[in-house]
Amino acid sequence: MSKKTVRDINVTGKKVLVRCDFNVPQDENGNITDTRRIVGALPTIKYLIENNAKVILCSHLGRPKGEVKKEFSLAPVQKELSKQLGIEVKLADDIVGESAKTLTNNMKDGEVVLLENVRFDKREEQNDPEFSKELASLAEIYVNDAFGTAHRAHSSTAGVADYLPAVSGFLIEKEIKFLGDALNNPERPFVAILGGKKVSDKISVINNLLEKVDTLIIGGGMSYTFLKAKGLSVGNSICEDDKIDLAKELMQKAKDRNVEFLLPVDVTLGKEYDKDTESKIVKVDQIEDGWEGLDIGTETVKKYSEVLRTAKTVMWNGPLGVFEFDKFAKGTNAIAKVLGELDATTVIGGGDSAAAVEKAGLADKMTHISTGGGASLEYLEGKILPGIACLQDK
Ligand code: 3PG
Repeated sequence: MSKKTVRDINVTGKKVLVRCDFNVPQDENGNITDTRRIVGALPTIKYLIENNAKVILCSHLGRPKGEVKKEFSLAPVQKELSKQLGIEVKLADDIVGESAKTLTNNMKDGEVVLLENVRFDKREEQNDPEFSKELASLAEIYVNDAFGTAHRAHSSTAGVADYLPAVSGFLIEKEIKFLGDALNNPERPFVAILGGKKVSDKISVINNLLEKVDTLIIGGGMSYTFLKAKGLSVGNSICEDDKIDLAKELMQKAKDRNVEFLLPVDVTLGKEYDKDTESKIVKVDQIEDGWEGLDIGTETVKKYSEVLRTAKTVMWNGPLGVFEFDKFAKGTNAIAKVLGELDATTVIGGGDSAAAVEKAGLADKMTHISTGGGASLEYLEGKILPGIACLQDK
């Protein structure tokens, strides 16, 4: 069932509390290094400004664990938002205290106030009803647009919806559309690419995807658990020995469901986990002790690319090698490039895969890049996200 959005409710002259995910990465000097989550929130904020709402924004940043810590202040976000919106966004010194109350009580239509980091209050993560009520008392309408935090049942992401009419913003609407359509109504062939270090992080995703896709492509560190499950030696590669049986079961499930399950046929090995280490490409049955797999090899790139060129929908989650090291980013970059050239819907899960596509300079070639890391993963697992479930149905 689809959720009501800001379009379905009259916001004119109303105080609207908007939960965003402004949990953005910063360098050691506090400069924001990736503004995608801020840019992603702009359409909703601009819509509310244009429709003369009084816009009260809130978010968490990092994990300050219920304490006020300067390094987790939303001040850098306030600056970036003011720049992006071209108006002064005021930052409250607190969340529901005197400063927040004074600022929000004196707002004119079209003004924007940002509350301080909601995780400065420990009641936020406890989804404390009193804190939810206090947040709700600042506004007349609640809008959730924090897709990246929609998997958390906290006061500002879910609890507050018990006390205010609650609808979604445009970012959540867009994320559900692209992730949901790809998952539940894909144009076929539907190919999913799964990478990342561990099988254990992706068990539920693999299980759920095996019920949806035509082909599942595996890369990254998790490949080695599957390769070992097929009886191959993996040298010093990352491998979860306690997940070998599970890997076998997943491969059997793929077979039973007629899903093509693709593993690397060759890999790039490194002597050590280091950006300048000695490297070589070998077939997967020639991985020696003393070497570890850090990327997919050229034959694998070729094979995966051929399959991808036939796809009409591609979902990608997790890098295919250690893309942080240029030497071992080749497989991830090559696959990103192929995706960028496809005449298909290409949906990139957030977190590392999004970072890899950005790093390769191919972000604008994809149909959709999710702003959610953990949230998009839970969505792919088929879980109900509390931050979405709490919103009004259409
Ligand atoms: C994220 O970056 O995944 C979200 O902002 C959620 O942050 P959290 O894992 O600290 O809840």
